This record gives sequence, C-alpha cells and structure tokens, in this order.
Amino acid sequence: MQIPLINLKRQHQALQPEIEAAVLQVLAGAQYIMGQNVTAFEKEFADYIGVKHAIAVGNGTDALVIALESLGIGPGDEVITTPFTFFATAESISAVGATPVFVDVRLDTYNINENQIEAKINSKTRAIMPVHIFGQPCEMDKINAIAAKHNLHVIEDACQAVSAEYKGKKAGALADIACFSFFPTKNLGCAGDGGMITTDNDRLADICRALRIHGSGEAGEKAYNLLNNIDVSTTDNQDGDHTVYNPSKYYNYLIGHNSRLDELQAAILRIKLKKLDECQKQRQDHARYYNEALQETDLVRPAAMDNIRHAYHLYILQSENRAAITRYLNSKGVATGIYYPIPLHLQKAYTDLGYQLGDLPQVEYLSHRTFAIPVFPELSAEEREYIAAALTEASNVKKT
Ligand SMILES: Cc1ncc(COP(=O)(O)O)c(C=O)c1O
Repeated sequence: MQIPLINLKRQHQALQPEIEAAVLQVLAGAQYIMGQNVTAFEKEFADYIGVKHAIAVGNGTDALVIALESLGIGPGDEVITTPFTFFATAESISAVGATPVFVDVRLDTYNINENQIEAKINSKTRAIMPVHIFGQPCEMDKINAIAAKHNLHVIEDACQAVSAEYKGKKAGALADIACFSFFPTKNLGCAGDGGMITTDNDRLADICRALRIHGSGEAGEKAYNLLNNIDVSTTDNQDGDHTVYNPSKYYNYLIGHNSRLDELQAAILRIKLKKLDECQKQRQDHARYYNEALQETDLVRPAAMDNIRHAYHLYILQSENRAAITRYLNSKGVATGIYYPIPLHLQKAYTDLGYQLGDLPQVEYLSHRTFAIPVFPELSAEEREYIAAALTEASNVKKT
C-alpha cells in the first residue's frame, strides 16, 4: 500500500464539481482582483474565527510581515518567538528589520515555553509571536499576561492552527492580531498561495488593509490619517482628477506591498471553509485512533492538554529511533515527514545572531526525535490501520 503524507488529489476529487463551477464563474465574471468572493470570504472567515476583521493577503508570510508593520515593529526592535516552527515565522520578523529572539520549547506540546519568555524581555522587546505548532494552541493566557505586564504586543502565528481552540475560543482570536496560511497542504488550503490576518482591533485592521495594496486609495488614506492622527472631519478633500473610476487609486499614502488574495483562490476557499469542521472531525478521529492503537509502543504521542482542541495539522510522534522507524514505514509505502530537522536558531541564515548548539536544549533534542505520519481527513480506516500496524512492527523490530 502506498500512503502519502497528504493526498490533495483525493481532497480535490470530493469537491471537484463545486470548485470547477466556482472557478468558471470567476473567470466569466472577469473580476480577478479584490472581487466579491474576497469580500465574502473575509466576512465568512471572520465569523468562523469569531473576530471583527479578517484581511485577506497573498500568503501566510506576508500576513506576518504586514501584521508586524501594522504594529509599527521595525529596525532596532526585538520579537520573542519559538525556534521550532517553519522558517517564515522568524523570517517575517527579520523582513521588517527587527530581530527574532528565540525561547526554548516545551517537551510536551512543542510550543514556546511560556515560563522562559520573561527572562528574554529587555528594553528593545516589542512583541511576542507564539506559534500554535502542528495545530496545538500555546498557553495563551500566560503569554497575554506577560505581554500586558511588559506592554508588549502579541501576534499569533496561527498558520497551522485553523479551527484549533483554546478555552473555547478559536486560534486567531487569542491575541492582538493573528495570521493564517492557506498553502495547499494546510487544513484550509487553496490551489496556490493565500493568507489571512485576523483582529478585533479596528485601527490595526485599517492599516493592514492599506499595507496589502501599496498603501494606496481610500484604504491608504484612512491608514495614513490614523497613523498621523489626522482628523478627517477638519481636512479638505483631496484635489485631483476625479473623472477616473477610483480617484484615489494612484495616490499612495504608505509604503506597502502587493499582497492580495486572488478572487479565484477566495472562491475555492469559500467552498472549503464550509467543509472545514467536517474535515476536522475526521482528523480528530484519526488522531484518537492512533493514540489508542499506539499505546503499547514506546512512541511518544501528542500530549492531550486540558481546555484545548488540537487541529492536528500534523500528527507528530517522537522516538529516539526516528531514522530506523521512518525507514521501515517508508519501506512499507507509508510516507513520513520530519518537522523540523534544524531549529531556527541553528539555521545558517541566522548565523549572525550568534546562537550555539546547546543554547536551546529542548528544541535541539526534539529536532532529532519528532516525525509526522499521515493524518489527512480522507485517510481510510484501512489505511490508518495499516499505518498503526507498521508503526507497531517498527517499534518491535527496534526492540529485538
Ligand atoms: C507556522 C507557519 N508560519 C508561517 C507560514 C508561512 O505561510 P506561507 O507558506 O503561506 O507563506 C507557515 C506555512 O507555510 C507556517 O507553517
């Protein structure tokens, strides 16, 4: 049996007629950028997460960059984050000219260790960027309390955690501002790149809306006024050529980005959002099955935390014999993934930050042990039984 880590073809086949109809409609409508699907999807996504604003952007990395910029974070600033994540988390901090400061992770949840954050706060610290890694929410009450005490912002990297919950609230509604990725393999994925920023803060939402579109037009003007404390009721109207369809389009107020979600992607995501809870139930069911089926092995299974709903973007196991176990699974046709082989503080790109091997022992330990097995919603009962049996065999082979 051949089982990939994720089977996007199967996902597409289940939705093919609906998706094709929606795509054809967008093509025929010829409104490809910032159309009605983007507006509708922003509203539907905001309602799903339980926030006031959702601002669609080009990808999750841009969402993080724009969120940081909306908070005024830039050169000279430090942002505390985790080293056990996809590179884009820290890269976004570097992209705005700030410095990522890495805090070690918890061995149970793989998330940033909230008890080690305060020791890294200094006069340059402006924000904390927790990542709900693999779909498991961080200890947000403690993180928000530390941020409040030290007057810091909190930016959730929820790129792997759409639909995850912490104390009854969805990831994406747990901090000042949050970011999502709709990369195809994510739990809510599009047919290309896509991302979203969510917030309850009107001011941050207005600034993000301007930054995603060159700081231009009405959104740009509004954000400029907000940032410069200009009271529009006392300002003269802009002189200019008001004969064009959008008089402010070529007026640029801020240095921003070209980072919009395509209308085609929004149309696809609207369909998939409606199915998301159903897909999440299937992921949860697979995880429950693995948790039980692997009880007799010495593989470390995902921690079950109180008051948390894990999104199971990835089902992660731990073993000191990772190489032998994944080799065995692969020989049986079961794909595995290593998340993440190099913690970010040891990446070549961050040599200049001066971290050494041994600085963050927990993440360094985990990076030699963790691996992912298939948990995609469309996995069949027969396939997951096959995977669990292969894992049991692999751990027995290793013991003898
Ligand atoms: C934790 C995390 N942060 C950020 C990103 C960046 O998202 P994107 O690939 O859409 O730019 C990803 C996903 O790829 C991610 O997993």
